[in-house]
Amino acid sequence: IVIGAGAAGLFCAGRIAHKGKTVLVIDHAKNPAEKVRISGGGRCNFTNLHTTPKNFLSNNPHFAKSALARYTPRDFLDLLARHNIAWHEKTLGQLFCDERSGAIITMLLSELNPGELALETSVDKVEKTSDGFALSTSHGALQCTSLIIATGGLSIPKMGATGFAYDIAKQFSHDVIEPRPALVPFTFSGDLKDQFAEISGVAVDVNTHTETASFDEAMLFTHRGLSGPAILQISSYWKPGGDVTIAMRPDIDFADALKSTRETRPRQSLNATLEDFLPKRLVAMLQAKGDLPSAPRLADLSNKAIAAVAETISHWTITPTGTEGWRTAEVTAGGIDTATLSSKTMESRSVADLYFIGECVDVTGWLGGYNFQWAWASAAAAAEAVCG
Ligand code: FDA
Repeated sequence: IVIGAGAAGLFCAGRIAHKGKTVLVIDHAKNPAEKVRISGGGRCNFTNLHTTPKNFLSNNPHFAKSALARYTPRDFLDLLARHNIAWHEKTLGQLFCDERSGAIITMLLSELNPGELALETSVDKVEKTSDGFALSTSHGALQCTSLIIATGGLSIPKMGATGFAYDIAKQFSHDVIEPRPALVPFTFSGDLKDQFAEISGVAVDVNTHTETASFDEAMLFTHRGLSGPAILQISSYWKPGGDVTIAMRPDIDFADALKSTRETRPRQSLNATLEDFLPKRLVAMLQAKGDLPSAPRLADLSNKAIAAVAETISHWTITPTGTEGWRTAEVTAGGIDTATLSSKTMESRSVADLYFIGECVDVTGWLGGYNFQWAWASAAAAAEAVCG
């Protein structure tokens, strides 16, 4: 029995069924794989060509290595080819469907017979028996030899996310690393919130970094704070109370640019010069905030003042008040402690025939198709183990 008909659960069950074994997938939702459906703006960013274990956060950075090496993005592409699903690379190795993400759901379901999927079914109790597990469900009692938990994390409760996997893990004495929202926009309070809201919709290429990670992507100002891929990526590494340092247009050496323009066009304003590289409304906001001087002409700026401007733009340090939380977080960081699982099979180290796969495990991918690749790879590892 697989509990959770999401990306990992359906993929795992399909591989088990393909090997001729009997399998049942249970989900409390009305429709399977709802997150696949809405993913990637409706076109499912189903993998990333550049997947390596470095693209994942976990208390044990080595844990994901074995599964990722044994089921690769190329393996998933072979599967898509067999199902005639066309795809394209958008950017940075991110692969999307040409058509809607429903094609992926249809493919996942095609491996299962209708009787092998029980939707709108909740599981009230799980007990270990001498030869497997006994489940009490809203549709009666069930028994199985192997139990695979694939109920995902806590992100987007509106879509039916629950802490079921963590409850089962705790029931069987497994540690759970505190789950936290990841790939999530930052929120701010007070003046900063108002200043950001005023330029909501403005985007700029940045480098975001904390002590442990660094990302070059776009940042977006919103009514509530900051979003965009560069912010979502760094949010996974952010700890409440911590700072994030942002370099706007990291490809530009602002000190050099300002000095050379001061030589050629000394009467040009600081704003006009910065607006060659940064959105006009952003420059105005930084100035209104007092982060930039209001110099009418570049000639009025000393080298020291120029260095200070460059420092502000390239080391803009902010302290988010918080994040938008589970409501919008794309994934859940933390989860079932990998120390309690086999990295080869995803099987519990202490309870035979109990497996945890996908997002419920303490393995969290970057933005860009990595989370689905983990769902496929961890599911493949468990399916292989179950089928022997
Ligand atoms: P998933 O959440 O997919 O499935 C869990 C299943 O378990 C659900 O069907 C749920 O109903 C069921 N369930 C939960 N509790 C239960 C209970 N108590 N009883 C029974 N069933 C229960 N990743 C990526 O790589 N590329 C992308 O483009 C995107 N895009 C994206 C967009 C948005 C808006 C979100 C929210 C997330 C993404 N992701 C993503 C992340 C990706 O969707 C996620 O990592 C995978 O779906 C995780 O797969 P799982 O199968 O582990 O959980």
